[in-house]
Order: sequence, then C-alpha cells, then structure tokens
Amino acid sequence: MKINDDEWFELQFRPEEAFKKYGVKLPALPSDEIQIGFTGSSGLFNMRQAFSFYKYVCSVCQISNIREPLILDFGGGWGRISRFFLRDTKPESIFIAETREYAIDCLRKYAAGCSIIHNQPRPPIPGLPGQLDLACAYSVFSHLSEEYFQAWVNYLLSVLRPGGYLVFTTRGQFFINHLEHLHSKTEKPHEVLEEYVRRMLEELPSPEEIRRHYLNGEFQFYPIGGAGECTADFFGETFIPKRYIEQNFGPFFVDLTDDVQYVDQSVVVLRKPA
Ligand SMILES: C[S@@+](CC[C@H](N)C(=O)[O-])C[C@H]1O[C@@H](n2cnc3c(N)ncnc32)[C@H](O)[C@@H]1O
Repeated sequence: MKINDDEWFELQFRPEEAFKKYGVKLPALPSDEIQIGFTGSSGLFNMRQAFSFYKYVCSVCQISNIREPLILDFGGGWGRISRFFLRDTKPESIFIAETREYAIDCLRKYAAGCSIIHNQPRPPIPGLPGQLDLACAYSVFSHLSEEYFQAWVNYLLSVLRPGGYLVFTTRGQFFINHLEHLHSKTEKPHEVLEEYVRRMLEELPSPEEIRRHYLNGEFQFYPIGGAGECTADFFGETFIPKRYIEQNFGPFFVDLTDDVQYVDQSVVVLRKPA
C-alpha cells in the first residue's frame, strides 16, 4: 500500500506506528547533536529539508513508476535522505556509501537494513551493483574538489542504467547570499564566533569575489577541510554554476534549480541517455 506524503513524513517521528500500520521498519532518529554534526541543523527543519529534496528527486525520476528501484545515497551521512526511500523499495536495494568511519557507525545504528558501504575518498564504491535507477548526493558536491567531483560524477553516471538519474546539490547563489549576510551582520570579534562560521569568514574569499567567479561560470573549491577523513586535499567549500555543468556534462544535463523548498543549495539533475 502506498503511504501518502503527509503521513510518511509524520511517521518518521513515530517508527513503531510505521511498522504496525505498514510493516515498514523505520530506524530511530539520531540525537540533535549527531544531526547537527552532519548538516548543521536538526529536528523538524532538518527532516523537512531532507523530505523536500527526496520528493523533488522522486518527481524527477518518476520513482513510483519503477518496480523496486535500485538507489544509491552517496555521502549518505547518518541516513537522513535514504530513510525516505523505504516506502519505495526494499531496504537492501537502498545503498548508502560513506567515506567516514564515524558516519558508517551512525549508519549501522540509524539506517539498519539498508546496504551500507564504506568507500575510499576516490571511486569506486566496492560491491555496489551497476544498473542503478537513481543516485543522489545531498551536500556532498558542495564540498569536493574539482578533481574528485569529476571523478565521482563520471563514476556515478557509469553505474546508472540507461535512463537513470543522478541528482545532487552544491553551493550556489543561496550560500553566497548567506556569506554576504554573515559578513554584514557580524559584529562579534571572530574568536567568539562558532568555529565553522569563523572559518567561513576568514578562509573564504569575499562574497563579492565568489559571486564574480560564480557568474563567470567557474568551478570554485576552497580547501578548508572537514571532519575526520574529509581532509583539505579534497574537502572544503565548493560552488558549481550551471554553465560549468552544461560545459562538462552537457549530454547528461537536465536541470539546475535554486528553488527546491527548504533546500539551501542548488539542486542539479543529470540523466544517463536511454
Ligand atoms: C554535509 S554531509 C551530508 C550528509 C547527508 N547527505 C545528508 O544530507 O544528511 C556530507 C557527507 O559526505 C560524506 N563524504 C564526503 N566525501 C565523500 C566521499 N568521497 N565518499 C563518500 N562520502 C563522502 C561525508 O563523510 C559526510 O558525511
């Protein structure tokens, strides 16, 4: 039985009911602290954002028309996005790939039942089947270097079936506006600002400069590093404009939008030709 959108969202917070009513085993949600460690937010907003992205992905690839789709959540974190696909396919057909040991530990607790794979920072993803219907990556290509971005997108396209979709997010206009706002509003001395915000302000170029390169169609990667195995040689803050995607992945390009509700990044859709 298909569970409607509103109820499916509500059930995320009531896993016992999901099992009792629909036989779907939904893992528990991690603490706010764990959630914040992955995406900087928690609770209702964090899940609303994930659900909105999920619904967009489903509408793009018409998931309800595919019987037991094979899905990859690349850089899946603790499983925030992938859990929504549990109403669309078997848990073992949902592959979640992560490069951080810490994320893998979280996935074992909060994405139990899905197929969890630990990959190296560079492709491939060991044990991943080919012919995937969909690969998605939320807030992963907002952080990778150009070399890693190119390697991963080419790899992910290669594991899709003909007609399959790759949907991912990256930094865009929204984040540039946010940086501008941070610069204009920040009155506190930098030492007392939250570490991440402080690094954004001190280690990235000015928002004006980022915007200029962005409007010029350039890929921008600022290697400020991240947590654990996400080292600065490939991980930082990344802005990818539409022109770059069109120039590099033209035959695959479907869309780039900044208008997915609650999603504060650009959402890019690529499709492997049928
Ligand atoms: C900002 S978090 C987003 C997590 C999740 N997609 C979500 O939206 O909740 C980015 C994740 O990408 C993972 N990641 C970064 N580089 C990766 C790589 N090369 N392979 C797999 N995962 C990677 C990080 O470990 C991190 O958990």
